[in-house]
This record gives sequence, structure tokens and C-alpha cells, in this order.
Amino acid sequence: MNKSVVNYQLQDQLGIITINNPPVNALSHPVRAGLTEALEQAASDASSAVLIICEGRTFIAGADITEFGKTPQPPHLPDVIEAIESFSKPVVAALHGNALGGGLEVALAAHYRCAIASTKLGLPEVKLGLLPGAGGTQRLPRVVGVEAALDMMTSGAPINASKALDLGLIDKVLEGELETAAIDYAMALIAEGATVRPTSHRVAAVPEASDYYDQYLKKIERKSRGQIAPGYIVELVELSTRTDITAGQAVERERFMACRNSPQASAMQHVFFFYFATSKLPDIPSDTPILPVESVAVIGAGTMGGGIAMCLANAGVPVILVETKQEFLDRGMGVIKGNYATSVKRGRFSQAQADSFLANFSGTTNYADIANVDVVIEAVFENMDVKKEVFAKLDQACKPSCILATNTSYLDVDEIAGATNRPEQVIGAHFFSPANVMKLLEVVRAAKTSPQVVQTFMKLAKKIGKIAVAVRVCNGFVGNRMLKGYGRQAQLCLLEGASPEQVDSAMQDWGMAMGPIAVGDLAGLDIGYRSRRDQGIESRSVKESTLADTLVEMERLGQKSGSGYYRYDPETRQRQNDPAVESLIDEVAATWNVERRELSKDEIVERLVLSLINEGAAILQEGIAARPSDIDIVYLNGYGFPAWRGGPMFYADTLGLSVVVEKLQALQSSTGDACWTPSPLLIELAEAGKPLTSLN
Ligand code: 3HC
Ligand code: NAI
Repeated sequence: MNKSVVNYQLQDQLGIITINNPPVNALSHPVRAGLTEALEQAASDASSAVLIICEGRTFIAGADITEFGKTPQPPHLPDVIEAIESFSKPVVAALHGNALGGGLEVALAAHYRCAIASTKLGLPEVKLGLLPGAGGTQRLPRVVGVEAALDMMTSGAPINASKALDLGLIDKVLEGELETAAIDYAMALIAEGATVRPTSHRVAAVPEASDYYDQYLKKIERKSRGQIAPGYIVELVELSTRTDITAGQAVERERFMACRNSPQASAMQHVFFFYFATSKLPDIPSDTPILPVESVAVIGAGTMGGGIAMCLANAGVPVILVETKQEFLDRGMGVIKGNYATSVKRGRFSQAQADSFLANFSGTTNYADIANVDVVIEAVFENMDVKKEVFAKLDQACKPSCILATNTSYLDVDEIAGATNRPEQVIGAHFFSPANVMKLLEVVRAAKTSPQVVQTFMKLAKKIGKIAVAVRVCNGFVGNRMLKGYGRQAQLCLLEGASPEQVDSAMQDWGMAMGPIAVGDLAGLDIGYRSRRDQGIESRSVKESTLADTLVEMERLGQKSGSGYYRYDPETRQRQNDPAVESLIDEVAATWNVERRELSKDEIVERLVLSLINEGAAILQEGIAARPSDIDIVYLNGYGFPAWRGGPMFYADTLGLSVVVEKLQALQSSTGDACWTPSPLLIELAEAGKPLTSLN
């Protein structure tokens, strides 16, 4: 047995198998081999029961991602799991941290399960384009019932220990220190003569409604659009109610292999793998010492400031909100309190949790009150003069070690840093709206930002639950810069003949969470309008923004005003096509001498996606993003790009870069539009026969 990874010891009548495979006790080959050997040892010794427990921060968090794509080495996980379930003495699994994927499948094969209260349990395989492949689809419904099993497996979302107890997924919530409590529980089971209890001998109840599974598929249609695995999961859960585990697992294996060999699984595993890479910066050693962050000030209690402050408060960081007037502070705090009240009503937080978050807030209109904070995040109006004035004041008011961050969407962070005497302490922190919900954070490294400040911010981002991607300064950074060309193509498609509905459904059917026109209405058309005026662009002076400018001047600001590109039902907020907008598009097209024609879905998708790819490549070449996968992570987490397509850069590789370059050149010659000039990086890689992912 590999002693360092899996250890076995007999303590009184209990055989204890301890897994120690940091950081997350993944089911690497030595763990599978060690578990098998430990079980063999326990089979022939004086133990009356066996306990499986893990050292470190977590129970088994799943298969080992570093083994993905490699030839699997025996013992295979389903065999290890079968050995646990068919073991002749009771097996108890003691969970803590995360019991995910193959980790939960191991636990499901044990005869008894206990967990400490903070444990998270889940089968997240669907997020990797897979389904649970080691009996999970057959055992989970037998333990928690069809509905809960479907919910857990089709969403991939974990549940907490108290929910797991309610569902019967665990038998006991442990109190006190893990090992002691788990041993006590296992010894009590021995004392009461507990016997083996194979999960596969249990039977899941058949749902009453005859169309139950069709209804369930309908329910998850929107979220699982385009993905293979969720449909298979529903099929396999149904199977678990009417067949034995051997037959069920045989079909599970087939479906698992079909998923594993699909391009979706490669795309989603690419994302998963590189999700961990984003926090590692190629030029900053990961052991760079970070600065302590005990308290944060947020300047501006508006839409973004309020959301950012909530993220900090929820993570236990005391936050001081700073506004220009008490009334604005009160208004901001009012919105925050309202948000917490809604969360409590919806059961997201308990009242006690919401109260404890609110206790982390204080407010001021006086910069002297933030002299001692460790970090400031500025979220005032998007205007360079205002930002510079605020940063000059912060430079005066805050202690020298304080990090000054700006949440600007587009402005030059170097110029903002220039308003201070500490440019090495200035950084961009581009949160996405709503900031307390959206996971993405672009950490913008300005020319002089010190590595220590970058590293501190990356760690702070993780602490507050964000997926941080480090980027460099340019207009719009990675996400919004790429969005500009994408949005421009959407507008040109409208003028050339497509309706808002056609553009949106083309992109949504392709997999985007929302179409670009509907996104505009959701965000508010006035934001772009104001930003164009701030940049000195005259209203209706640019072809691709004439329609948007006109709508804003008609007071059609999007959803918030009841109409924009679409009309919104005041009751249901359901969008409706608006003939008035169709006529307006005709007029605008005529003004710009654009002849309207029929546009195919494929043309719309191709133009919008190619524009993302070409700009993404330019961003890479300029070093704005360090890796193609960083761009993919930005698009998946901030812009609703379908995970099963892997992100725009990964998707470019699946098309083939020479095909991408040919298509760009064809568009360039047919339209004469400079935006289609292929990025030199794409040409270089296509000529060398290399994919973009070779740069990861
Ligand atoms: N295999 C190998 N390494 C893993 C891993 C895995 N499954 N999951 C995480 N790690 C590594 C990360 O790369 C990271 O390494 P680093 O320290 O060198 O950067 C380290 O563990 C810590 O990861 P996090 O920073 O994410 O740590 P957290 O404590 O914040 O989160 C976690 C821990 C919740 C376990 C999170 O890492 C996670 O969600 N991991 C993925 C879990 C998962 O999806 N498992 C299912 C795999 S599929 C499967 O089991 C198939 C089966 O059905 C056959
Ligand atoms: P907002 O208008 O909702 O809030 C700005 C707040 O700043 C107001 O409450 C205002 O009173 C306050 N303020 C103005 N000057 C101040 C000063 N000198 N000191 C203290 N407070 C001051 O604006 P929003 O939408 O929150 O945007 C803020 C920043 O976040 C902008 O830079 C914007 O570009 C950026 N951003 C906005 C996103 C969005 O979707 N709204 C997304 C990402 C970034």
C-alpha cells in the first residue's frame, strides 16, 4: 500500500482507512490502489467495521483532474466502489469539507455516512460535460429519491449537511472534532450490532405522474440547453427505479463514455482545468507575501458600490461605505438592507446570517474616517475627472500601505493611478453587475502596480468568492473590449435585415445565456448612450449606435422603462416584438444607405462569434490577457458564453484556426470592414498549424 497516501490501522474493533492526498484528496491512482489494499487488509483482520476518513481540508473532492485525458490505470473507480459496497463488514464514511463527484460516489457505496455540519455534498460532473460514472446515477436516487437526485445531478450544485440529513444522504451530523466524533459514531454502530446495508439493495420509489420525466426535462430545458449529459442523467435515474444496479451501471457506463468522448466534455474539462490556472500569474511567484486585509472602504454606495460592499460583508470583512452626502449613504444602505431582506425571504440566508452581514457595515461622508483601512474600492461615476479627484483625496486620506482600487469599466487605470503618489498601490477591480451575484472579477494590473498588490487582490477576490482573472490596461479590459465588436456586429445585423428577435434567438440557440439585444435592454440603453457622449461621440453620428441613440432619445431605455428594442409586459416582464422598432430600424438603415436583406442564423452567429475570436486574439497578442484560457474564463463567467463550447478561444481551436482565418478574410473582402482583418497572431498560429490553446 502507498503508506503516505492511504493508511490503514486497527484501533480496538475499528479498521480506520485514512486518505491523505493533498490538496483535496482527489481519487488519484495511488488513492484507488491504497483503498483497495486497505480493504483487503481489513477483510482479514479483527475489525468489526471500517471507517473511511480523510486528512486535511476535505473529504475526497472527486476524480483527479490531472489524470483527465490520460489512460486510466487500474484499479478503476467503479471497482473500488463495488469493493466498498460488497464489503463483509459495515463501512462508515466520515465526511468533511467537500464530498464531490467520485468522492460522494465512494460515500454512497459505504453503508453508513456521517458528516460535520459544514460539509458540502454534490455530484458536479454535469459541469464537466459528464455524468457520475461510478454508480452515482444508480445509488443516489436509491438513497435520496428521484426528485432530489435529479436536482443534484442535473444542476451539479452541492447541498449542505443539514439538507443531506433531511434527505437521508447522511445518517448523522457530527459535532466536535471530526476524527473523534467519527470514531465515536462508528464504535456506537459496532456496539449496537449494525450490519452491512448495501445501497444497491434499496429501491427508489417510482414517481406517480406518468409524464414525470418529460415534465422534468421541460423544467431543466433552459439551463441544460445544448448539453448532452442532463438528458442522460434523467434517463439513468428513471432506470434506477426499475432495474438492478448491475444493469443500471452498465447503461451508466455507456452513457458516461458517450459524454466523455464528446467535444462538450473536452470543452468543459478545458474550462475546469484552467479555472484553477487563472489564479496563478506567470510572472508573479505564488508565494509572494500578501498584505493583510482587515477592513475595506467602498467609495460610492450606488449600484456597484452596494453590491461590492455586500460581497465583502458576507465574507466577514468590515466595510465602510463612503458617499458625498448622508442622504446618498442612507439610500445605498436602504437598497442593501432590501437586498438582504429579499435573500432572507427566498431562504438564501437566515435572518441571523443577514444580521451578522449587516453588522459588518458602517458609513461616512468624511474621508478622514477611512485613514486606517487596508483596501479602498472606488465605485463612483464613470468619469475620469471625478475618479482623479477621488483618488487624489484617497492618497491624502489613507495610510501609505493602503491599496487603492478602481471599479472603472473602461477608463485608463494608469491615468487614475497618476493622480496619486502611490501608483504601485493602485489597481483596477472590475466587478460585474450585480456585483453580489456575478462571480467574475477582472483584476486590472496597471503599469506600476506592484506584484504584492496584485497578489493581495487575487487572494482577496478568492476570499469574497470571486473568480479573479488578472488583465492589463486597455479600453474595456478583456471582457468589455471584446463585447464592443460583438455588440457592433449585432447592431449591423439589425440594420442589414435581421429583427432583434432573430439576432437574439440565433445567439441563444447557439448557446449564449441571452442574446445581445436583450442584454442591452436588461442593462439599460442609457449606459452606452452616456458613455458615448462622455467620449465626445455625437448622438446618431455612428452607424452602429444610431438605433440605440434614437431609442434612448425616445425614452426607451430598456426593461427599466418598459421598452427598448422590445416592449415589456408590465405584469410579467415578458418581452414582445415591437413593430415600431422594426419601422425605426428600416428608417435608420435607410439613413445610412444600408439595403436590408434576409440574414441566416448561421451568418448572425458566425459574425458575432468571429468578432469575439479576432478581438480575443488581438488581446492576447498585446499581452492584455496572459493566457487564452483566461479569456475563456472571463467569457464564461461574465458574459453567458456556453461552457460546453469551452469559451471563445477554445471554440476557435475547435473550428480550426486556418478556417477562422479564411472566414475572417472572406468577410474582410466582402465588407471592406477593417474589423475583419485577421489578428496577426491567428495567422501566425494557423500557418504553424498550432491551436490557440498551445499558448496556455
Ligand atoms: N483533482 C485534483 N486537484 C484538484 C481537484 C481535483 N478534482 N480539485 C481541486 N484541485 C486542486 C486545485 O487545482 C488547487 O490546486 P493548487 O492549490 O495547486 O492551485 C487546489 O486543489 C485547491 O483548489 P481550490 O483553490 O479550488 O480550493 P477550495 O478549497 O477553494 O475548493 C473544491 C475546493 C471545492 C474541492 C474545489 O477545488 C472544487 O470544486 N474542485 C472540483 C471538484 C469536482 O468537480 N470534483 C468532481 C470531479 S469529476 C468526478 O469525480 C468524476 C467521477 O464521477 C468519476
Ligand atoms: P451609480 O451611479 O449607481 O453609483 C455611483 C455612486 O457614487 C452614487 O451613489 C454617487 O452618489 C457616488 N459618488 C459620486 N461621486 C462620489 C464621490 N466623490 N465620493 C463618494 N461617492 C461618490 O454607478 P454604478 O453603476 O454603481 O457605477 C459605478 C462605477 O462602477 C463606474 O465606474 C462604472 O463604470 C462601474 N461599473 C458599473 C457597472 C454597471 O453595470 N453598473 C459594471 C461594472 C463597473
